[in-house]
Amino acid sequence: MAKITVIGAGAFGLALANTCVDAGHSVTVWSAFAPELEELRTKHESSKLPGVKISEQITLTDDLHCLDDTDVAIIGIPSSFVRSVAKQISPYLNKKTVLVDTSKGIEAGTFKRMSEVVEEECPNNPVVALTGPSHAEELSLGIPTTVAVACKDVQYAEYIQDIFTTSTFRLYVNTDVIGCELGGAMKNIIALACGVSDGLGYGDNTKAALMTRGIHEITKLGLAMGAEVDTFGGLTGIGDLIVTCTSVHSRNRRAGMLIGQGVSPEEAVRQVGTVEGYFCCQVAAALSRKLGVSMPITEELNHILYEQGDVRESLHKLMGRPNRHECERYTTLEELNRLHTAPGDHY
Ligand SMILES: NC(=O)c1ccc[n+]([C@@H]2O[C@H](COP(=O)([O-])OP(=O)(O)OC[C@H]3O[C@@H](n4cnc5c(N)ncnc54)[C@H](O)[C@@H]3O)[C@@H](O)[C@H]2O)c1
Repeated sequence: MAKITVIGAGAFGLALANTCVDAGHSVTVWSAFAPELEELRTKHESSKLPGVKISEQITLTDDLHCLDDTDVAIIGIPSSFVRSVAKQISPYLNKKTVLVDTSKGIEAGTFKRMSEVVEEECPNNPVVALTGPSHAEELSLGIPTTVAVACKDVQYAEYIQDIFTTSTFRLYVNTDVIGCELGGAMKNIIALACGVSDGLGYGDNTKAALMTRGIHEITKLGLAMGAEVDTFGGLTGIGDLIVTCTSVHSRNRRAGMLIGQGVSPEEAVRQVGTVEGYFCCQVAAALSRKLGVSMPITEELNHILYEQGDVRESLHKLMGRPNRHECERYTTLEELNRLHTAPGDHY
């Protein structure tokens, strides 16, 4: 039995907390917010995960000394707050604790992935990224779910795989941390775009187009960052893209639908709550320009979200781009560069 602490009492942290109880571990959930803890203590439910019973075996606390002798600390915090929370927990960690980051995003300004942010703030602890198609609403109900656990040092990913596995939760080890984290962060952008398309009343054809051209541009960015091409065809690439672009549970897709129906982006985010694709889109658009990787869907969505772009015009702009071949036969960054002579000229 391992001692596991979940940092954050949100939907995914609680879903993993329940899963870890099922796997036979001793679980503590830490939250900085008294009302969250109070709701869990009195009702064993959370408004962030309606209809799910949160195990009574879980210890609830607002005291970071709970980390004193923990084996694993799961970070279940939205990406915008990961750095500040990682900084806050760092002095309480002991060296044996393996950190599991579940946040999906890229940090504004630094372009760092979330595991890099955690590593910077908690330099004495190994960090494993857990990502893949895993809606909290389904994982917490014991619906079969698969994810990847990625770490440069494979022994830590294998450790998390061993201790988190249950009959309904299956974990695959992957050493391509860049690819795994990038897929998890970027699919939120494409899900927002799919939501916009749904909100406009467009159909499955359009959504399929956005998803497949979406994974294409995510893969190109990934290669430019040093990821491996195969990762984008796996759980954290196409797998997470499918679940987020098609599901009723996806907050990114829901926000996109509102925008497609005429609600302003700011208001849509306010209504839906955590919409990580909204923030990630601006960061990804800047990163793609910096790396000279053309990402037309991301660019158009960024125009809609931050430059008052018209949704219909943007979709038609995507349709009206110059004719081209579907596949670029690259498998490495060198091949990608060979195919494209000038930055921005390669889509
Ligand atoms: N919800 C899902 O199905 C799901 C699935 C996989 C991964 N994730 C990822 O997990 C992360 C968390 O998502 P979520 O859905 O659980 O979010 P959430 O909005 O449900 O909850 C996040 C929790 O983080 C804590 N928190 C927020 N801001 C904080 C701050 N400033 N200081 C301290 N604690 C703070 C709070 O306890 C809050 O309940 C995200 O990065 C998301 O991409 C979510």
